[in-house]
Amino acid sequence: MLKRSPWIERARALVPTQWVRDARMVLDGLAGRSPPPFFSTAPSPRPAALLGARSLRVAAVTRETHDAISLTLVDPSGAPIHYRPGQFFTLALRLGGEVLRRAYSASLPMEAASPPGSVRVTIKRVAGGRVSQHLNDRAAAGDLLDVFGPSGSFVVEGSPATLVLIGGGSGVTPLVAIARDALARLPDTRVFVLIGNRSAADILFRDELAALSEAHPARCTLRHVLDAAPPDWTGGVGRLDAATAARELAAMPIEGPAEYLVCGPEPMMDAVRGALLARGVAAASIREERFSSPAAHAAVDAGGDVAVTVVVGGRRYEVVNRAHETVLESALGQRVPAPYSCTMGGCGACRMKLREGAVTLEEPNCLTADERSQGYVLTCIGRATRPSVLEVERS
Ligand SMILES: Cc1cc2nc3c(=O)[nH]c(=O)nc-3n(C[C@H](O)[C@H](O)[C@H](O)COP(=O)(O)OP(=O)(O)OC[C@H]3O[C@@H](n4cnc5c(N)ncnc54)[C@H](O)[C@@H]3O)c2cc1C
Ligand code: FES
Repeated sequence: MLKRSPWIERARALVPTQWVRDARMVLDGLAGRSPPPFFSTAPSPRPAALLGARSLRVAAVTRETHDAISLTLVDPSGAPIHYRPGQFFTLALRLGGEVLRRAYSASLPMEAASPPGSVRVTIKRVAGGRVSQHLNDRAAAGDLLDVFGPSGSFVVEGSPATLVLIGGGSGVTPLVAIARDALARLPDTRVFVLIGNRSAADILFRDELAALSEAHPARCTLRHVLDAAPPDWTGGVGRLDAATAARELAAMPIEGPAEYLVCGPEPMMDAVRGALLARGVAAASIREERFSSPAAHAAVDAGGDVAVTVVVGGRRYEVVNRAHETVLESALGQRVPAPYSCTMGGCGACRMKLREGAVTLEEPNCLTADERSQGYVLTCIGRATRPSVLEVERS
């Protein structure tokens, strides 16, 4: 038997197990012994959760249509997941060596979540889409996902007399949660729902929406329009463009002031906005949620380490904005209590004022032209390109 020298024994206590195994294989090789087969009963390690994300478990995967699924997410600790109807969660998936963040809206209000304390998000497959295809093809009960949020302000405040919800394709997702919540919680609110899809097979939550309007016939008016309608179709026909929206809205008994919530693909949203403005609806009464993916991380990858001063609550923190990190990632990694929510440029929670220096942002993002002109940046998708001072403005 090969006698081990005392320094190997001492070193053994100091070095990781894998190094000991590798060193033993080298020594065994020198002694002419072939290595034993290597078995590991340890589960393969899961990468550490992303900073600031919580790990939620997929409790169920439900097929909604031929190209959409719902995931029921639960907190493994049993803690309830809080959110408001209309808000979204950011799922961060590690795919092909990258972390891809995508937003998915809650498709049920908290009060209707099943099991209680869970959240249901619904994902429609986008042709060529990396995350939506992956989830549609691979998501399974038991999966753990890194999740940020809830985020977003596409929510109903107070008790409007009339809500008009207009959606296209997957844009129905937050609207079905808002409709269900308003009908259950706001007895004096009338709800009009206008949803556009390509074909009958593409309609998400068709039965849920029908059940809502049947349960509240005096308060809920539901109308579907299809690009390609089957012969027995009783809804509207035509792409949900400006002309179709104008025609369908004119046929609805909408009276008095109303709040309009619009969600769907860009061209549909632009068309609907035009139709609403042409009807005399005030721009302030139109609320929109755009479902666009964040751009590639090109801006974030540029440059080396940069010194940044972050001012939060009047206190100054000196941070190194590391290459390949956003300002937010660097700040959180260096224990700065920087605010954030979606981490993908969609909610504005990480907004800071640029007092000095320069920060590049990934596009598109939710900053308005007005905010940009006032020098606001989003730290979750921003990278300092020279020494900078950023401040969280006190509200
Ligand atoms: C606030 C918010 C809430 C959202 N909520 C939902 C939701 O509840 N359900 C849902 O299914 N999606 C939702 N989305 C869209 C979702 O976040 C992703 O953008 C979508 O799943 C596509 O991601 P992907 O990785 O599959 O596609 P990517 O790989 O990012 O994109 C692939 C291609 O598809 C195009 N594309 C990206 N998004 C869309 C889209 N929505 N429609 C058509 N083409 C697109 C891109 O321009 C690109 O050409 C939401 C987006 C935002 C910003
Ligand atoms: S955290 Fe939502 S925009 Fe930055």
